Amino acid sequence: MHCVRKVTEDLYWVGANEHRLALFENVHPLTKGVSYNSYLLMDEKTVLFDTVDWAVCRQFIDNIAYVLNGKKLDYMIINHMEPDHAACIQEVLLRYPETKVISTEKAFMFMDQFGFVVPDGQKIQVKEGDSQKFGKHEIHFIAAQMVHWPEAMVSFDATNGVLFSADAFGTFIALDGKLFADEVNFDRDWLDEARRYYTNIVGKYGPHVQHLLKKAGGIIDKIKILCPLHGPVWRKDLGYILEKYDKWSTYVPEEKGVLIVYATMYGNTEETAGVLAAKLADRGITNIVMHDVSSTHVSYLISDTFKLSHVVLASVTYNLNIYPPIYEYLHDMKALNLQKRKFALIENGSWAPKSGTLMQEFIENNLKQSEVLDAQVSVSSSMKEANVGEMDALVDALVESIKQQK
Ligand code: FEO
Repeated sequence: MHCVRKVTEDLYWVGANEHRLALFENVHPLTKGVSYNSYLLMDEKTVLFDTVDWAVCRQFIDNIAYVLNGKKLDYMIINHMEPDHAACIQEVLLRYPETKVISTEKAFMFMDQFGFVVPDGQKIQVKEGDSQKFGKHEIHFIAAQMVHWPEAMVSFDATNGVLFSADAFGTFIALDGKLFADEVNFDRDWLDEARRYYTNIVGKYGPHVQHLLKKAGGIIDKIKILCPLHGPVWRKDLGYILEKYDKWSTYVPEEKGVLIVYATMYGNTEETAGVLAAKLADRGITNIVMHDVSSTHVSYLISDTFKLSHVVLASVTYNLNIYPPIYEYLHDMKALNLQKRKFALIENGSWAPKSGTLMQEFIENNLKQSEVLDAQVSVSSSMKEANVGEMDALVDALVESIKQQK
């Protein structure tokens, strides 16, 4: 059974939702599903923009057949070759064998690598600045390397201002009928998952996203609708999501606040982190988020790290090293190019506390434009009255640093 929605008078969403996938990219937990968006333009020529993941191919094929209503599919534009969007290229070509495929040189190379066979006579290779008319709609192709793979491009419909933005402006969470961002409370219900999607999937490529945003700036007054490959379509208040992307891709925190990530084996480091949180709240700092590193997937830690200005790491010492989940978190920050954060450290160790020194070295050696506050707390097994002085000094330093934060 088909399940489609109209985006504009002659553009249809023909994607599908996925609720059974537990791990996106087999890494990141999904709790509210995800959508794979594909769009079908019914002009003099019919044009499909990207396909969907193989898991939802049947729904997708039903959708295309319904909208085409007996017409042939003339063109398929592939903006992004990652298989969550490209897995059904072959299936589409089996059903519509005359369809011409428009994409970049590198995307055609990836199609070969993944085993999607497109006959040479049906390949139309495009590059930055190329355009093609399909009737009244003229589509312009804009390179978008590393947003989020090197072959990616975005397509801009100069006729009605629709930007098919590939992974950019995408988010986790299945649409479940609500196609447009203005049909949901995005800021309340979707923003956290949009940030978790962006920061973990595309976060490393901030400079490339900035490059794309600057190119989009040249046509910004012409962009009326954003059609990403995941999550809702934006037809109102585009500045909201563009501003979020600008912050995330320049690694500028969204909010002044403190993320406390603690590693605890027997509850003592957790207790110490709790003391810090209470003292911060006493001083008026209430934008505090606290996570147990052992029970929180690192993708959530990364998302909150991009969101907040200050990060407190409270870690036990383990085998004379950083506690492994804290190390994984730090390593992810480095891999995702996280920068411009203020860190504060609490270490715990029963006989040879080392985690504070090692976390400081890691941050200073790997995270650009970040700093570690001088004030630190070192706990021997559990926090005592003797630690209160250094804890108060740490609170003073955090309060002052947050005050200075722009
Ligand atoms: Fe949603 Fe990079 O694929």
